[in-house]
Formats: sequence, structure tokens, C-alpha cells
Amino acid sequence: KPSNLRWRRVVFKITGAALAGNSPQNVDPKVTTLIAREVATANRLGVEVAIVLGGSNFFRGDQWVNATGLDRSTACQIGMMATVMNSILLQASLEKLGVQTRVQTAFTMQEIAEPYVRRKAIRHLEKGRVVIFAGIGAGTGNPLFTTDTAAVLRASEINADVVMKGSNMDGVYDCHSRNNNSGSSEHISYREFVARGLNNSIDMTAIQFCEENNIPVVMFDLFEPGNISRALCGDQVGTLIDQ
Ligand code: GTP
Repeated sequence: KPSNLRWRRVVFKITGAALAGNSPQNVDPKVTTLIAREVATANRLGVEVAIVLGGSNFFRGDQWVNATGLDRSTACQIGMMATVMNSILLQASLEKLGVQTRVQTAFTMQEIAEPYVRRKAIRHLEKGRVVIFAGIGAGTGNPLFTTDTAAVLRASEINADVVMKGSNMDGVYDCHSRNNNSGSSEHISYREFVARGLNNSIDMTAIQFCEENNIPVVMFDLFEPGNISRALCGDQVGTLIDQ
């Protein structure tokens, strides 16, 4: 890795809710363009970036289940397909900027994207391509197994150095409210994160997995200009959670 970079390989989780932006559609092209530009910057600097997108901008499974009594695993499958739509759109935005990008789906959808093959994902990253892991999520029907958890599982599979979670302000309000004024970064331990009940911003299963596997997590605000590329390149933005 280039010696000035803090992280060699990053899994970047983006909440689905953020993608909607101010658009009347499910995805705001301004948001995908913003994300793509910043990811392109980090990619050109040599950071290996793998991306996991949520799907809640298309479908909120939990709300649907509560309202209709729909079987939870059925709702989860729709959410998983929603992540594929988000992934294809972000791939298109990245490729428009000349960034080579591969989408890999957790379930086969071979006409749309290549299937997830761990070793191939790693090769793509080594070759400087951005890899988007699509179709992952709560396929088990366990409501605790979210795209956050899926993202950290992928991170451990591909030996990523860190998981970054970018969301809109609201999602990480507790973390951010304390460092808004100082502009300085904040660090908390996994234990403190759990103890303070900050799990409105990333789910507990994901944090516990990261603790067990010693994968640091960075939570930050996607919409603060420059934040994404700074985070990916290892500047201190948002909140760092580790031992
Ligand atoms: P290497 O040549 O091995 O470095 O990787 P590559 O991804 O450039 O080569 P490959 O021939 O595997 O893929 C060429 C293009 O086809 C890429 O855009 C892939 O994402 C895409 N591709 C590969 N396998 C599949 C598949 O099963 N389904 C779909 N839809 N696309 C695929």
C-alpha cells in the first residue's frame, strides 16, 4: 500500500436511507455522484475500497412486517434485491468517472452481475477495482442480521483493515453531536459504544463481531463535504470505534 495511507483495504458501508437524498425517487443521483467522486479520489490514491449498500431507500422490511404480518424472511429477500439495485446504480456512477467497478451478488443473478467469489473479490481489489458486494443482508430471517452485520462479515472474509459506515446526520447523531464544534475526531471503545447504547447508528451484532475479530469501525457523516475521501484515506473523521 502507499506508505502515507492508514488503511490498505476498506469496507465502506452506506446506509440505504442516505441514498434517497432529496429526490422524489428512491435514489438521488446527486448522492450517488457525490459518493462516486469521493470513492474515485480514494481509489486513485491507492486505497482498496469494497462497498456494501443498504436497501432501506427502496424497502423497509421491518415496517412492512409490522404493518402486514408478512413473513420476515420474505421481507428480507426483497431488501436483499433492493441492495442490488443500489449497487448497480452506484457502479454506473463510478464507471462514469472512469473507476473500474465490479458488482458481486451473494445470490446468483448472473445476467446482472457476477456472483460473489471471495478470491475473485480480493483479486479485483488488488487490481485497483472497486468491488460492490450486493444482495447481502438478512437472508437468514434473523432480524438482527442486517446489512451492517453482512458488511463486517465480508470485511473479515477479505481481510479488510477497517469498516467505515457513512450515514446521514440523524443516523449517527449521538456520535457526531459531541464533535461538531471542536471538529476533532472522537474515539470510543467497543465496550463503551455498547454501554452507551449508541446502536441506533450501527447494529450491535456488527459491533460485537468487530470486537471479536479486532476490526476497527469508523462512523461518519456522508454529507459533510470531503468526509468520504478523507475517511477512506485514513484522516480522522467521525468516530473511531476499536479496542
Ligand atoms: P480479470 O480479467 O480476471 O482480472 O477480471 P475481469 O472482471 O475484468 O474479467 P471477467 O472476464 O471475469 O469479467 C469481465 C466483465 O464481465 C466484468 O465487468 C465482470 O463484472 C463481468 N462478469 C464476470 N462474470 C460475470 C457474471 O457471471 N455475470 C455478469 N453479469 N457479469 C459478469
